[in-house]
Amino acid sequence: MKALSVIPLQAGSATLMDVEEPPTSDGPILVETLAVGICGTDIEILSGDYGWSPPGRERLVLGHESLGRVLDAPAGGSIKVGDLVVGIVRRPDPVPCANCAVLEWDFCRNGQYTERGIKEHDGYLSERYRITADFVVKVDPDLGVLGVLLEPTSVVAKAWEQVDRIGGRAHWAPRSVLVTGAGPIGLLAALLGVQRGLEVHVLDRMTDGVKPDLVRALGATYHSGPIADVGLSPDVIIECTGVSSVILDAMGHVGVGGVMCLTGVSSGGHTINVDEGALNRAMVLENVAVVGSVNANRRHYESAAVALAAADHDWLSRLITRRVPLEQWSDALTRHDDDVKVVIEVAPTRGVA
Ligand code: BGC
Repeated sequence: MKALSVIPLQAGSATLMDVEEPPTSDGPILVETLAVGICGTDIEILSGDYGWSPPGRERLVLGHESLGRVLDAPAGGSIKVGDLVVGIVRRPDPVPCANCAVLEWDFCRNGQYTERGIKEHDGYLSERYRITADFVVKVDPDLGVLGVLLEPTSVVAKAWEQVDRIGGRAHWAPRSVLVTGAGPIGLLAALLGVQRGLEVHVLDRMTDGVKPDLVRALGATYHSGPIADVGLSPDVIIECTGVSSVILDAMGHVGVGGVMCLTGVSSGGHTINVDEGALNRAMVLENVAVVGSVNANRRHYESAAVALAAADHDWLSRLITRRVPLEQWSDALTRHDDDVKVVIEVAPTRGVA
C-alpha cells in the first residue's frame, strides 16, 4: 500500500512510497484511510525540525489528523465494519507514569509517550492502518469528511477543559473569550466558545478573506489590530498563534480572575523586551492564571465529537479550504494565503462528504 513517509529531522525527505500492509500487532481493527489533515506540526516534521522515527527504523509514516472507514473489526465489539472513525494520536508511555496509568496520556510526565505520525509510531497517512478499539473514536456519519476535524477539535476541547477547571478555583461564570489566531485551532476554539454561549472575539493579522468571514459567520467579532484595540478584558484568552509578542501582549489583557490557555507551539529563539514587574504585578493582583495545554485524551476526543456533530456543517466545511489527492501530496504542503485547513484525500471521499 502507499504511505507518505519522512526521515525525521531531515528536511525534504518526504516520499510517497510502497510499504507493507499494517502489522496485525497494531490491533485487530483494519481501517481504510479516507483523509488526513495537515497542520503546523506536519510542516515542522517535513522541514526537518521535529519528529522521531520508530525504534530501529529510519522512516516515519506521517499523519495524525485522520478520518477513516472500518474495513474489518472483531464481531461483537463497539466498532463495526463501515463506521467512520478517527485514530487517537498519543499512546501512554510503557512505564507507565502516574498520569498515563489512568489514561491521562496528554499529561505524560516522563516524555516516553509515543504519538502516531509524530513520535516513534507510524501515522495515519497510509492507505490502511490497524488499531485497537481503545484508540479509535467513532464520528457521526452525517459529518462525512468533516470528521477529519476531530483531532484538532480534541486539542481545543482539552484547552477549554483546562480553562474551566482552573476557572472553577473560584466562582466561575465567564462571559467573554478572546481567541488569538484564526487558523484551524483558533477557529475551532471560537466555535466551542460560541457553543458555550460566550461573547467571542477572534484576533488575527489577516484583514480580509475567509478568516474574518468564518468568524463573523459564527456570530463572533473579528479584530486585526493590537489587542488593546479590542477594548475588552476577557475572562478567557485562548492563545493559538505561538507568537511571543502576541502571547505577552495577551497576558497583560486577561480579565480579573481570568484564565489564559496557551495552545500554540513557539519555535523559540525570539527575544522581546517586556516589563516583567508590571506584568507580574497585574497577574498577581488580578489572580490571572496562564496554562499550557497539549494533546488530548479519549475524553477530549469524545467531547469534540459531540461538539462537531452539533456544529453547523456548512460552517465546518468552509474550514476545509483545500482537498488534495494523495498523489499530489506536495501541493498540500505549499501554503496559500487563504488556507485554513488543507486535507490530503487518501481515498475518494465521495459518498462520505
Ligand atoms: C498534535 C498533538 C501533539 C502535538 C505535539 C500537535 O500537532 O495535534 O496531538 O501532542 O502536536 O507533538
